[in-house]
Amino acid sequence: MHDSRETFLRNAFVTGCPVKHSRSPLIHGHWLKTLGLEGSYTRQEVAPEDFAGFVSRLKSGKSGFVGGNVTLPHKERAFSLADQPDALSEELGAANTLWLEGGVLHATNTDGYGFLANLDAAASDWDRTERAVVLGAGGASRAILQAVRDRGVGEIHVVNRTFARAQELADRFGQKVHAHAMAALPEVMKGAGLFVNTTSLGMDGDEAPDFDFSPLAEGAVVTDIVYVPLITPILRQAVDQGFAVVDGLGMLLHQAAPGFEKWFGVRPAVDDALRQLILADMEKH
Ligand code: ATR
Repeated sequence: MHDSRETFLRNAFVTGCPVKHSRSPLIHGHWLKTLGLEGSYTRQEVAPEDFAGFVSRLKSGKSGFVGGNVTLPHKERAFSLADQPDALSEELGAANTLWLEGGVLHATNTDGYGFLANLDAAASDWDRTERAVVLGAGGASRAILQAVRDRGVGEIHVVNRTFARAQELADRFGQKVHAHAMAALPEVMKGAGLFVNTTSLGMDGDEAPDFDFSPLAEGAVVTDIVYVPLITPILRQAVDQGFAVVDGLGMLLHQAAPGFEKWFGVRPAVDDALRQLILADMEKH
């Protein structure tokens, strides 16, 4: 039988509000071009009050889209409006990737995959540790806690300025995740092999407070999900104190790959050419 999927142009989107700063079109545009695929990936700015209508058009097949990415502030609604959210997005209560399959709208969240793939590529032994510290308990922290737990790290300590938010995540993600207030940081860092910043500290040239990474295990990896600047003040301090660091740009690149494969049928490569393309764009803005 003829595979009808091959006969029409596939179009995908990134939706958010605002969405004009999203670098996802650059990433997917690069893959479409280098793989020689026909298709498009465009920004769709959708206001919160219009999001349900956007999803319903998507489900009806009339929008012409095969799926897309979802960013702030729509990730929770994307999860709840999907017909078939997977287990990952269910636990997070948020989805960043939607795709249609046989008229059914599927949803997942690829942020945790992107986070792990970035660490695996840049510091392959990072997961030998039994202890990780995650600073911050906002939206970005969730997928990381889930992913680090699912990789099998025994103890994960989430530390946050507002303790109640850390506690809420510890309750959500189970016994391996422990909540702490900021004052506990030096104590919980003792012997940890991974330190992750998920807060906005040091973003866009802001100052970050001083961190003493010396309690971490020898050979520990420090990573930051902020990637502007690429070497954040937190990563700079870790380098100066002799620790291995992984910047956050790779997470953005890797989280995009599973969606591309769902919509366009080919698993794309996250390579240096792509990284250089995004770095060049960051120089311009
Ligand atoms: P996102 O969804 O991007 O993670 P968010 O939900 O606003 O954004 O969360 C931002 C995180 O950065 C939170 O953990 C926040 O701490 P609070 O929960 O106490 O607000 C943290 N954060 C932001 N500014 C901070 C600061 N100056 N010092 C410490 N933590 C900060």
